[in-house]
Amino acid sequence: MITQKKQKQAAYSGLTPKEQFLADIYSLVRTTKVYQANNKRVTAGVENFRRSLAKILDGQNSLFLMIESTHFYFQDEKLLLRSQAEHIQSNLLKYFEQRGLGGLTINATATEAPLTEVVNFAVLLNNSVRQANPMEWLIGQLAAENLLWVTPVKEVEENEASEVALQESTAKLEATRKRAPRKVYAYTLKSVQEVAKKLASNENTGIRKTVRMVQTMAEEILLNEQPMMLAMSTIKAYDDYTFAHSVNVAILAMYIGKSIGLPKETIERLGLCGLFHDLGKVVWPHELLNKTTALDDHDLKLIRQHSLNSTRIIILQLNSSIKKKGRLLLPPFEHHLKYDLSGYPQIGWKRPLSLCGRILAIADVYDALTSPRVYRKEAISADLALGMMLEQSGTVFDPILLKVFINMLGLYPLGTLLRLDGGELALVSQRSTSDDISRPWVLLLHPDEDGGYTKGTEINLSEKDPTTGSYIHMIEKSMNPTTFNIQPAEFLS
Ligand SMILES: [Fe+2]
Ligand SMILES: [Fe+2]
Repeated sequence: MITQKKQKQAAYSGLTPKEQFLADIYSLVRTTKVYQANNKRVTAGVENFRRSLAKILDGQNSLFLMIESTHFYFQDEKLLLRSQAEHIQSNLLKYFEQRGLGGLTINATATEAPLTEVVNFAVLLNNSVRQANPMEWLIGQLAAENLLWVTPVKEVEENEASEVALQESTAKLEATRKRAPRKVYAYTLKSVQEVAKKLASNENTGIRKTVRMVQTMAEEILLNEQPMMLAMSTIKAYDDYTFAHSVNVAILAMYIGKSIGLPKETIERLGLCGLFHDLGKVVWPHELLNKTTALDDHDLKLIRQHSLNSTRIIILQLNSSIKKKGRLLLPPFEHHLKYDLSGYPQIGWKRPLSLCGRILAIADVYDALTSPRVYRKEAISADLALGMMLEQSGTVFDPILLKVFINMLGLYPLGTLLRLDGGELALVSQRSTSDDISRPWVLLLHPDEDGGYTKGTEINLSEKDPTTGSYIHMIEKSMNPTTFNIQPAEFLS
């Protein structure tokens, strides 16, 4: 019988120490997916990991393993792609990419870390992929488990100054766009986070990457008959509310633009205005962002300044031509002004809001109402939110655009949780294919033994019983997914 060691040697013979290290990490995470910590294969995997790490470190204190533009870097040195190790590198790249992991800093103490710690690290890496925000979850778990010898690094920021890198990332993005709107969403989220991070530390920042993301989204929205990006915004698969809100507002505003036939250029403008509309909040103290108690006068003053501050930041801190920036100023300035101009900041004129400003206001309020917030753990359901907005039609919102918006979303947008008259829970999975927008397609959810839910069949709520002519299923009411611990994105992605 061929021993395990011989098998391994045969599989990975001729690898350089760095390639061997990558192979050992990959083998470790794969083995811990299947076997328990006391299994021989896991024990061997941990030993191999420790040994190959020690070999690479060769007396150094720590290893910086990074990914940039589909290549691994060891201590800033690019690892050449050789055919012998191509499959290992591409598998591990994919593994890192799925978790938003840009790299790892591994301290030399890892070579002596207890077996349970190394296994725990691999298990956490594996499990992070199932979390809404894998990186934040992973960082939190490693800290909670006191695994101090390893630090995950978020995906590397593209070098704004490098046109080559930008072109590479754009090409990658184009390929991604064809594959997964979810990825486009995640990349956009990341680009806004990066912009905001620079602004928060009072630095100027380029926006070319964000502009490319918006162009990609606009193409997806205009070319794809299926409203996939819209689903990304209504399903709400992300925890990071502050930035996910900006991306959702951008997407919703762009779809409204598409619904009323605006040209691509204006749709892109709506996207950028959506992404940047709340930039004025970067100067808010952390406590205000997370405040659960009543707001005092000072808080209210800061809040009312944020839309004006957004325009100030766009002018002063975004590196782009004056002409391009000029097109992004008005809608963010107007987004809290309301249709009747009674909002903030107070203005002395009676000129109506711009079309893009009116669109942005609808997208902004809808996303804010339907997302869980610090001070309101449970989000308001989509139908309730739309009902509330309808009450303010003509005062806060442009009545015609609001109608367009409701028609576009359907009364029950994708990801809405419904209870049917038979008591079943169901998730809206496709918009209505009949004339009645209140009768979408839904995915039935069945309770499982662990207190969770499993996917059932997809049914059309506009289907009628041929003998009686009445609807087979009726919607009793919309429910809050968080009450049932349901994450709609998990069932619909
Ligand atoms: Fe705002
Ligand atoms: Fe907002």
